[in-house]
Amino acid sequence: MPQQTRPWTAECIPPQTGRRVIITGANSGIGFETARELARKGAEIILPARSMVKAKDAIDQIRAEIPSAVLIPSVLDLASQASVREFAAWFSGQYPGPSLDLLINNAGVMAIPGRELTVDGFERQFATNFLGPFALTAWLYPHLRQREGSRIVIVSSAVTKWAKMDFDNLQGERRYRPMMQAYSQSKLADLLFALELHRRLTKAGSPVSVTSAHPGYAITNLQTSGPGSGPSALRMVSSLLKPFLSQDAAHGALPTLFAAVTPQAVSGHYYGPDGIFELKGYPKAVSIPAPAQDPRDAQRLWSEAERLTGVIFRI
Ligand SMILES: NC(=O)c1ccc[n+]([C@@H]2O[C@H](COP(=O)([O-])OP(=O)(O)OC[C@H]3O[C@@H](n4cnc5c(N)ncnc54)[C@H](OP(=O)(O)O)[C@@H]3O)[C@@H](O)[C@H]2O)c1
Repeated sequence: MPQQTRPWTAECIPPQTGRRVIITGANSGIGFETARELARKGAEIILPARSMVKAKDAIDQIRAEIPSAVLIPSVLDLASQASVREFAAWFSGQYPGPSLDLLINNAGVMAIPGRELTVDGFERQFATNFLGPFALTAWLYPHLRQREGSRIVIVSSAVTKWAKMDFDNLQGERRYRPMMQAYSQSKLADLLFALELHRRLTKAGSPVSVTSAHPGYAITNLQTSGPGSGPSALRMVSSLLKPFLSQDAAHGALPTLFAAVTPQAVSGHYYGPDGIFELKGYPKAVSIPAPAQDPRDAQRLWSEAERLTGVIFRI
């Protein structure tokens, strides 16, 4: 990567006019900031949220600041395979052919206090953070495949450094720990998925690139939407570290934006903040954590995702 003299900020985003983008989880936090900055640069953004009201609220907020923004609301619940299928079918009907430039798999949920199952019977974090995005990417891939310069971005987490793939406890069936097992494993699954997808796309000679990013520690709804309201170690650690080691959602979105739009971001690479412990700062290429480096884990996870969702990812 060429040496950068000044930090990369949202102002560095190249013009996005003529590009169609889907961003999941864009009604809040990092996804919202990502949508706002891409809309500012002229991208057409499909903004699916868990309800039409949430999607339209977010769009109204962006339009209040950027009246020319092109944003389309839609509904998507990644914790439901039926909803993922319906959203993809809606998109294919509205925008047939090679119609998608950028898919940003950003939505996520963290540290649900007790083990919860989705309508499909999957553990909620594994389903929302990994199985849903896996199926969504598979359904939408044909729209990216023949589009010049198209890209997939997968948002992971710095917590993957300490994560472990336990295929005997993939969904917390044997032992459920909200943060260090269920959440961290689901975000490791995201990173393994990104790397395996990159390998498969490269092998197939596909022009689609896939990058991954993590935001460091950004103050968003993530810290409150999953964890319960009672005292917890996570909340205590969060409140102690927050003033020193965190950043706002706009800064948290920069690695995702960098991974999504810069020519310097390379398929198969991972981007995060350049500051202390990669918790805050400006985007840079970061190393792939050791737990994500085993291609056998990635292949096994891919097979599991196809088996559980019933969605065969054809490249
Ligand atoms: N903030 C951090 O420090 C941090 C650190 C590492 C990684 N991350 C990752 O960054 C991404 C964005 O998180 P954030 O910090 O911006 O959190 P956030 O403000 O809570 O945003 C999460 C988004 O995901 C959506 N979402 C949750 N469950 C969903 C489902 N079943 N279907 C569709 N959408 C769903 C939420 O929708 P609702 O509004 O309906 O809940 C919301 O729009 C996540 O993947 C997270 O794991 C964040």
